[in-house]
Amino acid sequence: AVTRTFSIIKPDATRRNLTGAVTKMLEEAGLRVVASKRIKMSEDQAKKFYEVHSERPFYGELVDFMTSGPVVVQVLEGEDAVKRNRDVMGATNPADAEEGTIRKTYAESIEANSVHGSDSDENAANEIDFFFSKDEIVG
Ligand code: CMP
Repeated sequence: AVTRTFSIIKPDATRRNLTGAVTKMLEEAGLRVVASKRIKMSEDQAKKFYEVHSERPFYGELVDFMTSGPVVVQVLEGEDAVKRNRDVMGATNPADAEEGTIRKTYAESIEANSVHGSDSDENAANEIDFFFSKDEIVG
């Protein structure tokens, strides 16, 4: 089925001017950008977005990193969008990511790993709602 997922192009990628290169890989994987905006995440937004990781040792660093520069938040649409996006992103740790994936190609480290993607349809819906209003999404 055609579904939607939520994506973030992270500060390490925007800093290296890779917004287009990353988006091209998403598009070539069969995903369509139906909403997109470049924002600077506030500390409150980052803390709330990553709340599930709040007990992890890397939480503070993760929030600092995600607020360290601009990010591009996107809604992606396609056949099985969550899985399709996770496949093209590759493993969280670029050292484990397969050849041809975004993280293998561009990520600097497990933290500066260039992209975020929702891990389930339910989280995708929540994450899309967190950053976008209905009128900002044009399918
Ligand atoms: P993301 O998909 O955005 O979700 C949580 C993020 O935490 C993850 O990508 C990584 O960038 C980051 N992360 C996961 N594990 C670690 C770790 N061990 N050290 C630092 N950052 C991590």
